[in-house]
Amino acid sequence: MERTFAIIKPDAVASRKAGQILARIEAAGFTVRAMRLQHLTKKEAEGFYAVHRERPFFGGLTDFMSSGPCILLALEKQDAIKAWRTTMGATDPAKADAGTLRKDFGTSIERNATHGSDAPETAAFELGYFFRGMELI
Ligand code: CMP
Repeated sequence: MERTFAIIKPDAVASRKAGQILARIEAAGFTVRAMRLQHLTKKEAEGFYAVHRERPFFGGLTDFMSSGPCILLALEKQDAIKAWRTTMGATDPAKADAGTLRKDFGTSIERNATHGSDAPETAAFELGYFFRGMELI
């Protein structure tokens, strides 16, 4: 079993799609190991996305991610990192396959409904950034 870190982003929470996305997470066979609604501060978003600090979209991305509450998740499944990325679809909803979360709920590359870790090291950092050991049951 593997764990990955996921976010239902502020756009999807604001448009009341979180319930549908959680249902799709369960239908895809993930077990939710931790979950929390949290309105990130700008600093928390900047720390989370620190690897993108030099990118031109960093300011807009961290503004958006701190614009309203999001849902933070620890998801478990065999090959969870890859499986969650497949469930989400391509970063840009316009390029995502039919039936993926970003295709169905994302509206732009920035407001793309969900986030997922891209590698085991990233998953370890991201899970640890938001969840303490005690919260991961
Ligand atoms: P996410 O999986 O959360 O990881 C980094 C985020 O940066 C990504 O989803 C996109 O929402 C965002 N992103 C990536 N590339 C661009 C871009 N060219 N313009 C705006 N946002 C981007």
